Amino acid sequence: MPHRPLACVILAAGKGTRMKSDLPKVLHRVAGRPMVGHVLAAVAELDPDHVVVVVGPGMDDVAAAVAPYPTAVQEQQRGTADAVRAAFGLLEGFNGDVLVLYGDTPLVTPETLRAMVNARRQAGNPAVVVLGMRPDDPGAYGRLILNARGGLEKIVEYLDASEEERAVTLCNAGLMAFDGARMTGLINRIGNANAKGEFYLTDVVQIARTEGLPCAVVEGTPAEVIGVNSRAELAEVERIMQRRLRKAAMDNGATLIDPDSVFFSPDTRLGRDVVVGPNVVFGPGVTVADRVEIKPFCHLEQVSVASGAVIGPYARLRPGAEIGEDAHIGNFVEIKNARIEAGAKVNHLTYIGDARVGAKANIGAGTITCNYDGFGKYHTDIGAGAFIGSNSSLVAPVKVGDGAIVGAGSVVTTDVEGDAMAVARGRQQAYPGWAARFRERKRAEKAKKA
Ligand code: UD1
Ligand code: MG
Repeated sequence: MPHRPLACVILAAGKGTRMKSDLPKVLHRVAGRPMVGHVLAAVAELDPDHVVVVVGPGMDDVAAAVAPYPTAVQEQQRGTADAVRAAFGLLEGFNGDVLVLYGDTPLVTPETLRAMVNARRQAGNPAVVVLGMRPDDPGAYGRLILNARGGLEKIVEYLDASEEERAVTLCNAGLMAFDGARMTGLINRIGNANAKGEFYLTDVVQIARTEGLPCAVVEGTPAEVIGVNSRAELAEVERIMQRRLRKAAMDNGATLIDPDSVFFSPDTRLGRDVVVGPNVVFGPGVTVADRVEIKPFCHLEQVSVASGAVIGPYARLRPGAEIGEDAHIGNFVEIKNARIEAGAKVNHLTYIGDARVGAKANIGAGTITCNYDGFGKYHTDIGAGAFIGSNSSLVAPVKVGDGAIVGAGSVVTTDVEGDAMAVARGRQQAYPGWAARFRERKRAEKAKKA
């Protein structure tokens, strides 16, 4: 089949007044990713030839968030048809199919987008394909009015609908697929004689019909096209997204002991037979290999964990942590920008930052790599099989050689040779009988005062 080009236009010029936010609506995050980023990710699955994001004036932060995709500016918000017109400049001469989406419907799936593009390319060659849905509460959605043959005749906005039209349960989800060759002409004829005085994209259907062009509906699930207009809807969308991500993790062979309390990012990768305890949060960029156990209350972000490792409970793995095979990271341990090599153990109350911990090294409770002097960050290198005694501070830059031992309570400021023992703390003094004499004197003083 010859390649038929595809363009996607994402409308994101809305201010999102009901969010009561200084941030443009489409930059509010769902599963850690801006809403518009979810829409772009779904669109990217279709491998489109062009993508244009329509933004409002001064929305430079949205433009930066969607880069390298180009943006078109809609100078005034005069309705959804006017917003699509803003993209015409970037699509000049484009004759393929054009998919129009909203930036605030982050749950839309590539499957639904594909179904719409396929319907657009059907034998009947519809000028417009609209995504329909039957929500439990049709509320103020536009209604899809079908003709006797099941084709789409028109869309009426709720405010402009008659009682009879309002009783229709098939609603406009908002997404549309156009034949690019006919789109510009049709949309340019849309006027604004309606209840809101806006240029409604939905009017395109009636205009196409008066020219005898067929229009069609693809029905989708309401949950996919929930639009976010308020913080409560944002939370609802987050809930649905997390449910999807949890299911995907389980479908891929991970056990989630309490799925509802585990939070994922869209790019979290878990291997087979990974077990995740309750209350674990996966920030962006986490890859976990097979047979890893992540115990309760851990937070991971931009880290990789190799097979067989055991993490937590209560561990925090920050960006740049690389946990090797069968390594153990225990409670109240924070790891940042550090490689913990195979079989190493960092089990209690420790901070390891800007460091390497060699294979099978053992890091005692309360160890701190002092990596920052208020200006720069410095590296700590701990060799394979080294043993760091509890409550030690390793003042970077510093190296502890393979197999070396650092005595508990040390403050290590210079390199320790391999297989050496270093101890860096006040030497212990002993004063036989001192404590008994001290107590006796104090008791005598107290008795005299009484
Ligand atoms: C729209 C549809 C309605 C449908 C509903 C589904 C129209 C006229 N109505 O109504 O039939 O049931 O979506 O959610 O299309 N936008 C711009 N510039 C504008 C206006 C809007 O970029 O000038 C963007 C908004 O940021 C938003 C999207 O277009 O992402 C939809 O606009 P919105 O005002 O939410 O339309 P609805 O009234 O919900
Ligand atoms: Mg809306």
